[in-house]
Amino acid sequence: MVETSNLESLASSIQAVASPFRGYLQDLYEQYKGVMDGAVADYIPELAIAKPESFGICVATVDGQVFEVGDCTSLFTIQSISKAFVYGLALEDHGREYVNSKVSVEPTGEAFNAIVLDEKTNRPYNPMVNAGAIATTDMIKGKGSTERLKRILDMFKRYTGRELDINVPVFLSERATGNRNRAIAYLMLNFDMITNRIDETLDLYFQQCSILVNSRDLAMMAATLANNGVNPITQERAIDGRYVQDVISVMLTCGMYDYSGEWTYRVGIPAKSGVGGGITAVVPGRIGIGTFSPPLDEKGNSVRGIKVCEDLAKDFGLHLFNGAKPDRDLEEWMNGRPADGAW
Ligand code: DON
Repeated sequence: MVETSNLESLASSIQAVASPFRGYLQDLYEQYKGVMDGAVADYIPELAIAKPESFGICVATVDGQVFEVGDCTSLFTIQSISKAFVYGLALEDHGREYVNSKVSVEPTGEAFNAIVLDEKTNRPYNPMVNAGAIATTDMIKGKGSTERLKRILDMFKRYTGRELDINVPVFLSERATGNRNRAIAYLMLNFDMITNRIDETLDLYFQQCSILVNSRDLAMMAATLANNGVNPITQERAIDGRYVQDVISVMLTCGMYDYSGEWTYRVGIPAKSGVGGGITAVVPGRIGIGTFSPPLDEKGNSVRGIKVCEDLAKDFGLHLFNGAKPDRDLEEWMNGRPADGAW
């Protein structure tokens, strides 16, 4: 009788033969699963219970293929990754001109929770820092809190292709410890950057941060943006194509907090991270990447997630500004058709 573990390893070898890219991802997973640097976020008490060893990598293509290794079904809270997508919804609700009159698109070089607005215009710097994200959430249309939350959840369903839930203990923990965000919101109210429904909007912001996703969801969300706003599997449009470029641009310049400049220099793939340990990264017209690993570096980005994205970018020439022919052609590796026996 063949043991289950042998069957599993046989199955993964067959997959690796069928697509060398699966084998590549497996190697990446093995290489980094032992990295123990970084620390799980604990400034919101409920986040501190995440397991540091959880690790998943998923890559989804614009033609609907999905490659995954490790822990791709474990759920964690989306946190700041939500900001990029809610920004897209605000653009759909109000158009570019209005949104830009309330939230700028300049990187800050400051921490995500900095209490700072642009001195000249009083606008928050960009939709990826807490100030800009709270202003963006404030713009989401709907009759009351229930309808506004439903619109946000429906939007994420279009990106992921499945119904998402909120982690209520995380939401309550965010709300109980969210005085810094309250301070930011009142500062913005003072400058007429948000409307006077602060408790409702902050609850909505804390709820959007507490939405549960897995690394496969993050890959599908990124692949949907890579596919100009259409989910590659369900074929449902998640966002008006006119605004995809806006969302991806702000991810590139501001998505990795005060590491965004170095990220763009080293990796060059528009991405957004969250303190739950997720990263979603978009290679326009080609793939979406989703990673999950809770230990974070001092800037709040997932340590293993950064390493995985760095390697993918380097090994397959995915940096947006890379004009050279890469040593390894991503699509050939995925489809198992070597050009010159390169593996
Ligand atoms: O506002 C907060 O503190 C969080 N809920 C936002 C989390 C997040 O991922 C921001 N970035 N690191």
